[in-house]
Amino acid sequence: MIDLLDRLARPFLHALDPEDAHGLAIKVLKFAPLPPAPRDDKRLALRVFGLNFPNPVGIAAGFDKNAEVPDALLRVGFGFVEVGTITPLPQSGNPRPRLFRLDADHGVINRLGFNSQGADAALKRLVARAAAGGIVGINVGANKDSADRVADYVQLIERFAAVASYVTVNISSPNTPGLRNLQQASVLDDLLARVVDARERTAPNAGPTPVLLKIAPDLSLGDLDDVVGIARSRRVDGMIVGNTTVARPPNLLETDVAKEAGGLSGRPLYPLANRMLAETYVRVEGVFPLIGAGGIDSGATALGKIRAGASLIQVYSSLVFRGLGLIAEIKNTLLDALAADGQDNLQDFVGADAAAVTAEEWPH
Ligand SMILES: Cc1cc2nc3c(=O)[nH]c(=O)nc-3n(C[C@H](O)[C@H](O)[C@H](O)COP(=O)(O)O)c2cc1C
Repeated sequence: MIDLLDRLARPFLHALDPEDAHGLAIKVLKFAPLPPAPRDDKRLALRVFGLNFPNPVGIAAGFDKNAEVPDALLRVGFGFVEVGTITPLPQSGNPRPRLFRLDADHGVINRLGFNSQGADAALKRLVARAAAGGIVGINVGANKDSADRVADYVQLIERFAAVASYVTVNISSPNTPGLRNLQQASVLDDLLARVVDARERTAPNAGPTPVLLKIAPDLSLGDLDDVVGIARSRRVDGMIVGNTTVARPPNLLETDVAKEAGGLSGRPLYPLANRMLAETYVRVEGVFPLIGAGGIDSGATALGKIRAGASLIQVYSSLVFRGLGLIAEIKNTLLDALAADGQDNLQDFVGADAAAVTAEEWPH
């Protein structure tokens, strides 16, 4: 059923403006009578951040920005869903067009700029589905015109902790001017101190909500040293590596589209994102787990992400090119790899290649 829907819809979606296609995909997920999620092979299950994931394949933030379809996404086979980025107040984002496909490269450039219906609308939906179960992380961000961006994060943690499996502090979108400056050491230390404090305050009512930090793949290694050091000392529960890149690899085929401003994601992001993931993994020294995102477009690239250091993975852009069939492909590849290695869970793969990846020539 899902496969059929997917195969019928994709050529049609590709003929549309990318943002219209996205809007339509959300509508289809909202109204399609999807059967319950298939039960995953128990060898794919993992316990990470104190949560039980049925499988490690998540959908990254930005697809369901307003928490409209988390349960449909769980039904199509994702092990977890990250909704958002949600900002405190509604905001419209940048003018359209602001989403571009690089067809020949299997890449995407976006400069959406945190278009969000705001916290009230998302919270209402999340409260309504709170009893439904499944792992739903909530990605939060600051309003563009906010006078106190740190206060925006604190406020969102306080409001969403009770309905979030985990909260992601997104300071790595390239499309809100100045946002990524929050990754600078002195600012980040204050931000994380206040965010973790907010989480502690909500814990008596909301329970222990893991706080994750999502970083840009464009950090220098020196900056990464600082970011990981602060994340460790402020005791965040994990990191997501990472967001889209402002870089443009020299081998892109769609050279005209590549000139559009915004963050690049999808296949061309994989080498840089994987390298930054491995660099993060070796710095974290097992203190907390990582989610790997960026350019996963096959079972092999998903396994590569886990071997580079990811306990869990997230996909987004490749769904545009590969469709929902990618989820089953990834799961099958992971199960084949387990069988070939005689393992009964994925833990031994996590970070197995991290040191080797960090020794490679720097990707460009
Ligand atoms: C259209 C689009 C919108 C996105 N919006 C967000 C967002 O709101 N918040 C966020 O943290 N990441 C956002 N991302 C980044 C993704 O979550 C992910 O980190 C990145 O795209 C790399 O994964 P991919 O190569 O599989 O797409 C967005 C990505 C795309 C393509």
